[in-house]
Amino acid sequence: MKLHSLFLRAVSCAFALLTASVLSAADKPLKVGFAQTGAESAWRTANSNSMKNEAAKRGIDFKFADGQGKQENQIRAIRSFIAQRVDAIVLAPIVETGWDPVLREAKRAGIPVVLIDRTIQTADESLYACFIGSDFYEEGRMAADWLAKKVNGTGSIVELQGTPGSAPANERRRAFGDAIAKYPGLKIIDSQSGDFRRAGGKEVMEAFLKKHGKAINIVYAHNDDMALGAIQAIEQAGLKPGQDIIIVSIDAIKEAIQAVIDGKINCTVECNPLFGPKVFDTIARMRAGEKVERKSFNKDELFDSTNASAVIASREY
Ligand code: AHR
Repeated sequence: MKLHSLFLRAVSCAFALLTASVLSAADKPLKVGFAQTGAESAWRTANSNSMKNEAAKRGIDFKFADGQGKQENQIRAIRSFIAQRVDAIVLAPIVETGWDPVLREAKRAGIPVVLIDRTIQTADESLYACFIGSDFYEEGRMAADWLAKKVNGTGSIVELQGTPGSAPANERRRAFGDAIAKYPGLKIIDSQSGDFRRAGGKEVMEAFLKKHGKAINIVYAHNDDMALGAIQAIEQAGLKPGQDIIIVSIDAIKEAIQAVIDGKINCTVECNPLFGPKVFDTIARMRAGEKVERKSFNKDELFDSTNASAVIASREY
Protein backbone atom coordinates (compact mmCIF):
# COMPACT_ATOMS: atom_id res chain seq x y z
CA MET A 1 0.00 0.00 0.00
CA LYS A 2 2.77 2.33 1.03
CA LEU A 3 4.77 1.41 -2.04
CA HIS A 4 1.76 1.86 -4.24
CA SER A 5 1.01 5.36 -2.95
CA LEU A 6 4.68 6.34 -3.29
CA PHE A 7 4.57 5.16 -6.90
CA LEU A 8 1.40 7.16 -7.58
CA ARG A 9 2.92 10.27 -6.05
CA ALA A 10 6.07 9.87 -8.21
CA VAL A 11 3.98 9.44 -11.36
CA SER A 12 1.85 12.50 -10.60
CA CYS A 13 5.00 14.54 -9.84
CA ALA A 14 6.58 13.51 -13.14
CA PHE A 15 3.36 14.37 -14.96
CA ALA A 16 3.18 17.79 -13.29
CA LEU A 17 6.79 18.52 -14.24
CA LEU A 18 6.22 17.45 -17.84
CA THR A 19 3.05 19.56 -18.12
CA ALA A 20 4.86 22.56 -16.65
CA SER A 21 7.74 22.29 -19.09
CA VAL A 22 5.43 21.89 -22.09
CA LEU A 23 3.30 24.80 -20.92
CA SER A 24 6.26 27.05 -20.23
CA ALA A 25 7.63 26.43 -23.72
CA ALA A 26 4.27 27.36 -25.23
CA ASP A 27 3.67 30.24 -22.83
CA LYS A 28 7.12 31.75 -23.18
CA PRO A 29 6.87 35.20 -24.70
CA LEU A 30 8.35 35.66 -28.13
CA LYS A 31 11.95 36.90 -27.85
CA VAL A 32 12.93 39.50 -30.45
CA GLY A 33 16.19 41.45 -30.72
CA PHE A 34 16.23 44.81 -32.53
CA ALA A 35 19.52 46.32 -33.72
CA GLN A 36 18.67 49.99 -34.31
CA THR A 37 21.06 52.39 -36.10
CA GLY A 38 21.14 55.00 -33.33
CA ALA A 39 19.22 58.14 -32.38
CA GLU A 40 20.36 60.57 -35.06
CA SER A 41 17.00 62.16 -35.87
CA ALA A 42 13.42 62.73 -34.73
CA TRP A 43 12.41 60.12 -37.33
CA ARG A 44 14.67 57.56 -35.66
CA THR A 45 13.26 58.26 -32.19
CA ALA A 46 9.72 57.82 -33.54
CA ASN A 47 10.73 54.54 -35.18
CA SER A 48 12.34 53.19 -31.98
CA ASN A 49 9.26 54.18 -29.96
CA SER A 50 6.92 52.54 -32.45
CA MET A 51 8.87 49.27 -32.11
CA LYS A 52 9.14 49.44 -28.30
CA ASN A 53 5.47 50.34 -27.75
CA GLU A 54 4.20 47.62 -30.05
CA ALA A 55 6.46 44.99 -28.46
CA ALA A 56 5.21 45.99 -25.00
CA LYS A 57 1.58 45.86 -26.17
CA ARG A 58 2.07 42.30 -27.43
CA GLY A 59 3.99 41.09 -24.35
CA ILE A 60 7.09 40.39 -26.42
CA ASP A 61 10.44 39.88 -24.69
CA PHE A 62 12.06 42.75 -26.60
CA LYS A 63 15.80 43.39 -26.63
CA PHE A 64 16.64 46.84 -27.97
CA ALA A 65 20.20 47.74 -28.98
CA ASP A 66 21.11 51.31 -29.96
CA GLY A 67 23.95 51.11 -32.51
CA GLN A 68 24.97 54.72 -31.76
CA GLY A 69 25.67 55.33 -35.43
CA LYS A 70 28.24 52.55 -35.77
CA GLN A 71 27.96 49.39 -37.85
CA GLU A 72 30.31 47.50 -35.53
CA ASN A 73 27.93 48.12 -32.61
CA GLN A 74 25.03 46.72 -34.63
CA ILE A 75 27.09 43.65 -35.56
CA ARG A 76 27.97 43.13 -31.89
CA ALA A 77 24.28 43.41 -30.97
CA ILE A 78 23.29 40.78 -33.55
CA ARG A 79 25.92 38.39 -32.15
CA SER A 80 24.57 38.92 -28.66
CA PHE A 81 20.99 38.24 -29.87
CA ILE A 82 22.22 34.99 -31.43
CA ALA A 83 23.90 34.01 -28.13
CA GLN A 84 20.62 34.79 -26.30
CA ARG A 85 18.77 32.51 -28.75
CA VAL A 86 16.14 35.05 -29.73
CA ASP A 87 13.26 33.91 -31.97
CA ALA A 88 13.84 36.65 -34.54
CA ILE A 89 16.25 39.51 -35.20
CA VAL A 90 15.16 42.88 -36.57
CA LEU A 91 17.90 44.97 -38.16
CA ALA A 92 17.81 48.59 -39.39
CA PRO A 93 21.17 48.52 -41.18
CA ILE A 94 23.06 51.79 -40.89
CA VAL A 95 24.91 51.21 -44.18
CA GLU A 96 24.21 48.96 -47.15
CA THR A 97 27.33 46.77 -47.24
CA GLY A 98 29.30 44.53 -44.88
CA TRP A 99 26.51 42.45 -43.35
CA ASP A 100 27.02 39.03 -44.94
CA PRO A 101 29.30 37.39 -42.31
CA VAL A 102 27.08 38.20 -39.30
CA LEU A 103 23.87 37.40 -41.20
CA ARG A 104 25.40 34.04 -42.10
CA GLU A 105 25.92 33.42 -38.37
CA ALA A 106 22.24 34.17 -37.72
CA LYS A 107 21.20 31.87 -40.56
CA ARG A 108 23.39 29.06 -39.20
CA ALA A 109 21.71 29.51 -35.80
CA GLY A 110 18.30 29.22 -37.51
CA ILE A 111 17.23 32.75 -36.51
CA PRO A 112 15.29 34.70 -39.17
CA VAL A 113 16.39 38.30 -39.79
CA VAL A 114 13.85 40.96 -40.75
CA LEU A 115 15.38 44.08 -42.30
CA ILE A 116 13.51 47.26 -41.55
CA ASP A 117 13.83 50.84 -42.81
CA ARG A 118 17.04 50.35 -44.86
CA THR A 119 18.06 47.72 -47.35
CA ILE A 120 21.44 45.99 -47.74
CA GLN A 121 23.56 44.92 -50.69
CA THR A 122 24.25 41.19 -50.66
CA ALA A 123 24.93 38.46 -53.20
CA ASP A 124 22.98 36.01 -50.98
CA GLU A 125 19.34 37.10 -50.66
CA SER A 126 18.64 34.11 -48.39
CA LEU A 127 20.47 35.91 -45.57
CA TYR A 128 17.35 37.83 -44.61
CA ALA A 129 13.68 36.84 -44.47
CA CYS A 130 12.10 40.07 -45.72
CA PHE A 131 12.30 43.87 -45.81
CA ILE A 132 9.79 46.42 -44.47
CA GLY A 133 10.28 50.17 -45.02
CA SER A 134 9.89 53.09 -47.40
CA ASP A 135 10.84 53.42 -51.05
CA PHE A 136 13.70 55.93 -50.78
CA TYR A 137 14.10 56.26 -54.54
CA GLU A 138 10.44 57.23 -54.86
CA GLU A 139 10.85 59.82 -52.09
CA GLY A 140 13.79 61.46 -53.90
CA ARG A 141 11.84 61.47 -57.16
CA MET A 142 8.78 63.08 -55.53
CA ALA A 143 10.95 65.82 -53.99
CA ALA A 144 12.68 66.56 -57.32
CA ASP A 145 9.48 66.63 -59.38
CA TRP A 146 7.79 68.95 -56.89
CA LEU A 147 10.82 71.26 -56.91
CA ALA A 148 11.16 71.36 -60.71
CA LYS A 149 7.55 72.54 -60.93
CA LYS A 150 7.97 75.10 -58.15
CA VAL A 151 11.07 76.76 -59.70
CA ASN A 152 10.16 76.22 -63.36
CA GLY A 153 13.17 73.98 -63.90
CA THR A 154 15.80 76.59 -62.94
CA GLY A 155 18.02 77.02 -59.89
CA SER A 156 21.27 76.25 -58.08
CA ILE A 157 20.88 73.52 -55.50
CA VAL A 158 22.97 72.55 -52.50
CA GLU A 159 22.39 69.02 -51.25
CA LEU A 160 22.58 67.91 -47.62
CA GLN A 161 23.26 64.21 -47.79
CA GLY A 162 22.45 61.62 -45.14
CA THR A 163 24.89 59.11 -43.64
CA PRO A 164 27.45 58.10 -46.29
CA GLY A 165 26.87 54.56 -47.55
CA SER A 166 23.32 54.36 -46.15
CA ALA A 167 20.45 53.25 -48.36
CA PRO A 168 18.41 56.48 -47.90
CA ALA A 169 21.40 58.70 -48.73
CA ASN A 170 22.29 56.60 -51.78
CA GLU A 171 18.74 56.26 -53.12
CA ARG A 172 17.52 59.79 -52.39
CA ARG A 173 20.62 61.18 -54.08
CA ARG A 174 20.30 58.88 -57.11
CA ALA A 175 16.58 59.54 -57.61
CA PHE A 176 16.93 63.30 -57.27
CA GLY A 177 19.86 63.35 -59.71
CA ASP A 178 17.94 61.21 -62.23
CA ALA A 179 14.86 63.43 -62.01
CA ILE A 180 16.59 66.82 -62.31
CA ALA A 181 18.66 65.57 -65.26
CA LYS A 182 15.52 66.33 -67.32
CA TYR A 183 15.92 70.04 -66.46
CA PRO A 184 19.16 71.57 -67.81
CA GLY A 185 18.53 74.71 -65.73
CA LEU A 186 18.55 72.83 -62.42
CA LYS A 187 22.04 72.12 -61.10
CA ILE A 188 23.49 70.71 -57.88
CA ILE A 189 26.37 73.09 -57.17
CA ASP A 190 27.53 71.40 -53.95
CA SER A 191 26.80 68.29 -51.93
CA GLN A 192 28.00 67.23 -48.46
CA SER A 193 26.93 64.86 -45.70
CA GLY A 194 25.27 66.21 -42.56
CA ASP A 195 24.83 62.62 -41.31
CA PHE A 196 21.03 62.99 -40.94
CA ARG A 197 21.68 65.22 -37.88
CA ARG A 198 20.38 68.72 -37.14
CA ALA A 199 23.81 69.95 -36.05
CA GLY A 200 25.31 68.39 -39.18
CA GLY A 201 22.80 70.19 -41.43
CA LYS A 202 23.54 73.54 -39.75
CA GLU A 203 27.30 73.12 -39.96
CA VAL A 204 27.30 72.08 -43.63
CA MET A 205 24.87 74.85 -44.58
CA GLU A 206 27.07 77.45 -42.87
CA ALA A 207 30.00 76.22 -44.96
CA PHE A 208 27.88 76.26 -48.16
CA LEU A 209 26.76 79.86 -47.47
CA LYS A 210 30.34 80.93 -46.84
CA LYS A 211 31.51 79.29 -50.06
CA HIS A 212 28.63 80.08 -52.45
CA GLY A 213 26.82 83.00 -50.82
CA LYS A 214 23.81 84.26 -52.77
CA ALA A 215 24.41 81.78 -55.60
CA ILE A 216 22.35 79.24 -53.60
CA ASN A 217 18.63 79.21 -54.50
CA ILE A 218 17.63 75.79 -53.26
CA VAL A 219 18.42 73.32 -50.44
CA TYR A 220 17.65 69.65 -50.96
CA ALA A 221 17.98 67.93 -47.58
CA HIS A 222 17.86 64.13 -47.29
CA ASN A 223 15.94 64.55 -44.03
CA ASP A 224 14.01 67.12 -42.01
CA ASP A 225 16.48 67.33 -39.16
CA MET A 226 19.20 68.55 -41.54
CA ALA A 227 16.71 70.94 -43.20
CA LEU A 228 15.83 72.39 -39.77
CA GLY A 229 19.56 72.79 -39.02
CA ALA A 230 20.04 74.51 -42.40
CA ILE A 231 17.20 76.91 -41.57
CA GLN A 232 19.12 78.06 -38.49
CA ALA A 233 22.21 78.73 -40.64
CA ILE A 234 20.17 80.57 -43.28
CA GLU A 235 18.47 82.79 -40.70
CA GLN A 236 21.79 83.51 -39.00
CA ALA A 237 23.09 84.67 -42.39
CA GLY A 238 20.22 87.19 -42.54
CA LEU A 239 18.29 85.31 -45.25
CA LYS A 240 14.70 84.05 -45.30
CA PRO A 241 14.35 80.26 -45.54
CA GLY A 242 11.49 79.29 -47.84
CA GLN A 243 11.72 82.60 -49.71
CA ASP A 244 15.33 83.58 -50.45
CA ILE A 245 16.20 79.89 -50.47
CA ILE A 246 13.65 77.20 -51.38
CA ILE A 247 13.88 74.16 -49.09
CA VAL A 248 12.76 70.64 -49.98
CA SER A 249 13.20 67.83 -47.54
CA ILE A 250 12.17 64.29 -46.58
CA ASP A 251 10.52 62.63 -43.50
CA ALA A 252 7.55 64.93 -42.75
CA ILE A 253 8.12 65.02 -38.98
CA LYS A 254 5.68 67.26 -37.11
CA GLU A 255 8.26 70.04 -36.67
CA ALA A 256 8.88 70.12 -40.43
CA ILE A 257 5.15 70.21 -41.19
CA GLN A 258 4.98 73.22 -38.83
CA ALA A 259 7.91 74.77 -40.74
CA VAL A 260 5.91 74.29 -43.97
CA ILE A 261 2.96 76.10 -42.35
CA ASP A 262 5.38 78.86 -41.23
CA GLY A 263 6.69 79.12 -44.80
CA LYS A 264 10.26 78.07 -43.90
CA ILE A 265 10.23 74.64 -45.58
CA ASN A 266 8.52 74.52 -48.97
CA CYS A 267 7.86 70.82 -49.20
CA THR A 268 8.58 67.67 -47.21
CA VAL A 269 8.08 64.14 -48.52
CA GLU A 270 6.87 61.67 -45.95
CA CYS A 271 8.93 58.70 -44.78
CA ASN A 272 6.67 57.09 -42.23
CA PRO A 273 8.54 55.55 -39.24
CA LEU A 274 5.50 54.14 -37.42
CA PHE A 275 5.61 50.59 -38.69
CA GLY A 276 6.22 48.65 -35.45
CA PRO A 277 2.79 46.93 -35.76
CA LYS A 278 3.58 45.81 -39.32
CA VAL A 279 6.96 44.38 -38.23
CA PHE A 280 5.51 42.29 -35.40
CA ASP A 281 2.56 41.17 -37.54
CA THR A 282 5.06 39.95 -40.12
CA ILE A 283 7.12 38.07 -37.51
CA ALA A 284 3.94 36.45 -36.16
CA ARG A 285 2.92 35.38 -39.66
CA MET A 286 6.38 33.96 -40.36
CA ARG A 287 6.23 31.93 -37.13
CA ALA A 288 2.82 30.61 -38.14
CA GLY A 289 4.46 29.30 -41.31
CA GLU A 290 2.78 31.82 -43.62
CA LYS A 291 4.55 33.22 -46.66
CA VAL A 292 5.31 36.92 -46.24
CA GLU A 293 6.03 39.56 -48.86
CA ARG A 294 9.74 39.70 -49.70
CA LYS A 295 9.74 43.53 -49.79
CA SER A 296 6.92 45.56 -48.33
CA PHE A 297 6.94 49.35 -48.84
CA ASN A 298 5.07 51.86 -46.68
CA LYS A 299 2.88 54.41 -48.41
CA ASP A 300 4.29 57.93 -48.19
CA GLU A 301 2.72 61.32 -49.01
CA LEU A 302 4.03 64.80 -49.84
CA PHE A 303 3.24 67.90 -47.78
CA ASP A 304 3.44 71.52 -48.91
CA SER A 305 1.51 74.71 -48.24
CA THR A 306 -1.63 73.22 -49.78
CA ASN A 307 -2.11 70.39 -47.26
CA ALA A 308 0.21 70.90 -44.24
CA SER A 309 -2.36 72.69 -42.04
CA ALA A 310 -4.87 69.91 -42.49
CA VAL A 311 -2.56 67.26 -40.98
CA ILE A 312 -0.57 69.08 -38.29
CA ALA A 313 -2.97 68.39 -35.40
CA SER A 314 -3.09 64.66 -36.01
CA ARG A 315 0.63 64.24 -36.79
CA GLU A 316 1.98 61.54 -34.51
CA TYR A 317 5.72 62.09 -34.95
O1 AHR B 1 16.45 55.58 -42.92
C1 AHR B 1 15.52 56.59 -42.73
C2 AHR B 1 16.22 57.89 -42.50
O2 AHR B 1 17.09 57.77 -41.38
C3 AHR B 1 15.33 59.06 -42.18
O3 AHR B 1 14.95 59.80 -43.29
C4 AHR B 1 16.24 59.88 -41.34
O4 AHR B 1 15.62 60.93 -40.68
C5 AHR B 1 16.83 58.83 -40.49
O5 AHR B 1 17.80 59.19 -39.65
